[in-house]
Amino acid sequence: MLSLLTAVSLAALALSAPAASDAPGWQFDVKPNLSGIVALEAIVVNTSLVVMFDRATGDQPLKLNGKSVWGALWDLDNSTVRPLEVLTDSFCASGALLSNGTMVSIGGTPGADDGNFAAPPGNQAIRIFEPCASASGAGCTLFENPATLHLLEERWYPSSVRIFDGSLMIIGGSHVLTPFYNVDPANSFEFFPRKEQTPRPSAFLNRTLPANLFPRAFALPDGTVFIVANNQSIIYNIETDTETPLPDIPNGVRVTNPIDGSAILLPLSPPNFTPEVLVCGGSTADTSLPSTSLSSQQPASSQCSRITLTSEGIAAGWQVEHMLEGRMMPELVHLPNGQILITNGAGTGFAAISSVGDPVGNSNADHPVLTPSLYTPDAPLGQRISNAGLPTTDIPRLYHSSVTLTQQGNFLIGGNNPNQNFTPPGTPGIKFPSELRIETLDPPFMSRSRPELLTFPEKLSFGQQVTVPVTIPSDLQTSNIQVSLMDLGFSSHAFHSSARLVFMESSVSAGGKSLTFTAPPNGRVFPPGPAVVFLTVDDVTSVGQRIMMGSGNSPPTLE
Ligand SMILES: *[C@@H]1O[C@H](CO)[C@@H](O)[C@H](O)[C@H]1NC(C)=O
Ligand SMILES: *[C@@H]1O[C@H](CO)[C@@H](O)[C@H](O)[C@H]1NC(C)=O
Ligand SMILES: *[C@@H]1O[C@H](CO)[C@@H](O)[C@H](O)[C@H]1NC(C)=O
Ligand SMILES: *[C@@H]1O[C@H](CO)[C@@H](O)[C@H](O)[C@H]1NC(C)=O
Ligand SMILES: *[C@@H]1O[C@H](CO)[C@@H](O)[C@H](O)[C@H]1NC(C)=O
Ligand SMILES: *[C@@H]1O[C@H](CO)[C@@H](O)[C@H](O)[C@H]1NC(C)=O
Repeated sequence: MLSLLTAVSLAALALSAPAASDAPGWQFDVKPNLSGIVALEAIVVNTSLVVMFDRATGDQPLKLNGKSVWGALWDLDNSTVRPLEVLTDSFCASGALLSNGTMVSIGGTPGADDGNFAAPPGNQAIRIFEPCASASGAGCTLFENPATLHLLEERWYPSSVRIFDGSLMIIGGSHVLTPFYNVDPANSFEFFPRKEQTPRPSAFLNRTLPANLFPRAFALPDGTVFIVANNQSIIYNIETDTETPLPDIPNGVRVTNPIDGSAILLPLSPPNFTPEVLVCGGSTADTSLPSTSLSSQQPASSQCSRITLTSEGIAAGWQVEHMLEGRMMPELVHLPNGQILITNGAGTGFAAISSVGDPVGNSNADHPVLTPSLYTPDAPLGQRISNAGLPTTDIPRLYHSSVTLTQQGNFLIGGNNPNQNFTPPGTPGIKFPSELRIETLDPPFMSRSRPELLTFPEKLSFGQQVTVPVTIPSDLQTSNIQVSLMDLGFSSHAFHSSARLVFMESSVSAGGKSLTFTAPPNGRVFPPGPAVVFLTVDDVTSVGQRIMMGSGNSPPTLE
């Protein structure tokens, strides 16, 4: 075990020392402006720009030329929102950034038409948001052409993950709208850009019915892909199209929609980049029951399960620990220092809308969990999860919420809408209305002087060693540094597609004026594409620098 203790884990142990009593704490900060649409999907596309998607219902307060839109560009610098026109219904889609910096949103709803409002079907959609020269998003548009650019199979509730060649692997989903279980499944994988002209059938997705929507998938550092759905998991080899089953999640806990737990790839550290996966929350509900026999008051699971994806780790199986409370629809998000934020979700019930026996208004879930926790991967089992010093919000974030780390180093949190349409606060019988308030969760370092990465390259090559000028506040110990290369992920349905943290080998010069670090060796360790680099000194994290990891070539690319 001792050999596993890297510089990183020692640093993390040092972090758990008590903070000085006058240190500023964690804070929730509600922004003055509303998001205008329910931010049920969110992805950071540039330094201060977040793309958000909602459902095509034609009733969003955010308008363009007098018509509601279901896309938005949120400006992190001044908390303003700009409408983004979307053609097809982007409800319950996934997405990612590709190796060339383009953001792609895939899948969605089979076609909204409630009598009042109709939008073209989004379940085969590929929506392209090209890198855009405007920092504020002015003039930036989404490109769609359903006739010429579309998925091979119809997919509502799919997942996606950027893989080693910078393209997107697209996983599962449902062909049709379904109130709860996956009854008309797309049990297959496909790629964007396409690797072949037919989808690849998946026995794993077939086996994990009926609760296998939004599978949680991670690109592993050997190029394979880990996927968990329902209570089962596999490693998928893209090059040979083979699935290798792993042990089930222990104790009957199910973790994918409509029984949403969440999952995260723990930070990868040099030199071995040994992958470990953490899966938290969900429920032990019996999926042989119809949804009307399930209850919004049924306690969610507090279980977290962790596995090391080496042959010894797989033989040892999942290690079980517990959150401080049960959570349905928790969100697991990396901090640049390697800790994991656990936030959002409900203490009881399920995902989806108005399908259990006793919905609360329209919500299948109840008892919002309002206090986040932190998970410290290198702490001993049983001591990893704590909410000490974390604040409590009064804004429930249940179904159709999102959260993402930003380049500024804080978390942007939006959404909540366990209702079919836009349902404003004050609607009779509605405990959980459509939520337009955006808040950030700000780590303590946001309110003190921070390390700075001064000038920075626009691109990094795999394996490249770089030295950059930095400033480090004099009260910080430069013996305790971490340099993280991160994909901030695409947040949708309690999962952050493609989110990743790779620590880089690094050192600070004697005078503390320059930082030298080494980029990961190849695209299997960090799939080529946009990334954010953060410097953390003594648990105080810099603002991130946006770079292109790799050539910036269009996918597929191995450089
Ligand atoms: C955002 O908030 C600021 C300050 O409250 C206000 O001046 C501005 O008009 C708002 N903008 C939008 C787009 O709501
Ligand atoms: C980010 O914004 C800058 C301008 O501030 C622009 O040059 C660059 O192309 C943008 N990148 C993306 C990926 O949109
Ligand atoms: C917000 O900042 C962007 C630049 O990032 C600017 O274009 C826009 O006008 C600002 N909006 C307001 C309301 O200040
Ligand atoms: C899916 O699983 C069912 C049993 O649950 C089996 O009968 C069927 O052959 C499987 N289909 C595929 C394509 O594997
Ligand atoms: C996983 O779920 C299946 C289907 O409900 C069940 O048969 C199996 O026992 C579960 N596995 C564990 C370890 O609980
Ligand atoms: C990036 O690659 C995708 C997939 O081939 C393509 O649709 C998109 O136009 C490319 N973007 C740029 C900026 O080359």
